[in-house]
Amino acid sequence: MSRITLNTIKIKPNIAELQDVPEDITALKYVILEPIGFPININGENLKVSVDNHDLFNVYARDQWANEVIKEGEYLFDGTLIPDYAFKVINTHPKEGGLITRNTFFKLKTARTHDNKLVKNVKFDEVIGQNEAKKKCKIIMKYLENPEIFGEWAPKNILFYGAPGTGKTLLARALATETDVPLYLIKATELIGDHVGDGSKQIQELYEKASSSKPCIIFIDEIDAIALSRQYQSLRGDVSEIVNALLTELDGIHDNDGIITIAATNNPDMLDNAIRSRFEEEIKFEAPNDEDRLKIMKLYMGKIPLNTKNINLKKYVEKTKGMSGRDIKEKLIKPALHKAILEDKNSIEEKDLDIILNKLKGGKKEPLHLYA
Ligand SMILES: Nc1ncnc2c1ncn2[C@@H]1O[C@H](COP(=O)(O)OP(=O)(O)O)[C@@H](O)[C@H]1O
Ligand SMILES: [Mg+2]
Repeated sequence: MSRITLNTIKIKPNIAELQDVPEDITALKYVILEPIGFPININGENLKVSVDNHDLFNVYARDQWANEVIKEGEYLFDGTLIPDYAFKVINTHPKEGGLITRNTFFKLKTARTHDNKLVKNVKFDEVIGQNEAKKKCKIIMKYLENPEIFGEWAPKNILFYGAPGTGKTLLARALATETDVPLYLIKATELIGDHVGDGSKQIQELYEKASSSKPCIIFIDEIDAIALSRQYQSLRGDVSEIVNALLTELDGIHDNDGIITIAATNNPDMLDNAIRSRFEEEIKFEAPNDEDRLKIMKLYMGKIPLNTKNINLKKYVEKTKGMSGRDIKEKLIKPALHKAILEDKNSIEEKDLDIILNKLKGGKKEPLHLYA
């Protein structure tokens, strides 16, 4: 808790009257601010601010800063509730800066504090291959930065599908890392509650929460857990209320402009047709090709704390055919690391990899006896 006490709310002077603004200054479309703190510290503490309601923050921000001319790197000081509290301008559109108007859109960049924890440390570069999906993510990011140019052609509901372990969840994490907007990640299995109505309520609440922090992204992982085609529903029990709640949101019956829903599944063919038809685009995650597998091996070999320089990874391109990104990481590299640690070695050799791969090929159903 901060010991800094806030001034009682000041009635601020009338909003700056329209000043004479040179005509050649462009109006800013959006400004991204980062809360910095007070220029001087009192008792060594500083205040951390965050925003739950972005619409409200926009009104607040425009009220005090309309007519200011700013550019990236400059500071805006709060003149209202927490006088002298500094916000740094970390991004504007247009890039070269300009005039804050009543239509400028503000966003506060803060450490994300969503209920749905997301490990935010994956960059797009660390998702190997999957170029179509990455391209789509870039479009989504462009839209979130500048929704106006998209108008009614905004991206909305997108389905990621493909074999398990090909990077669907990984790409969601990268998207969360690389974009400034909130990303709500939910696993569809978590929506199946003990009582009928639990799941649909959670969906409504999720979209309501998202609605207060627009623009933002909702990622529904493993959507087949709830949106199963009716012919398979006996597997999961009755989830029709969840399906209906989701359909309502995907249709945008509520004002869902600025909320992008991405869903992921390993089994698109098992999806409920009504749900499936709501996705404007289905993007396939491909099994990694030769080049991708080499890159995946390089990526993760580079991350392990042992010496791997004696390994010629090119030899393993062919040997790992048919393996997914997850297989390579979890079934080849991880066991190799564990084996080396167990044997007190500080390096991994090709023969270690060969032993593991042979065992994998040999008895698929057998548990691995790597240390025998
Ligand atoms: N294309 C890829 N590039 C890099 N690593 C990958 C890739 N695909 C899978 N992995 C690795 O496998 C793990 C599991 O993948 P994940 O994204 O959970 O697969 P999916 O959600 O498609 O089943 C990832 O966390 C990552 O370590
Ligand atoms: Mg997944």
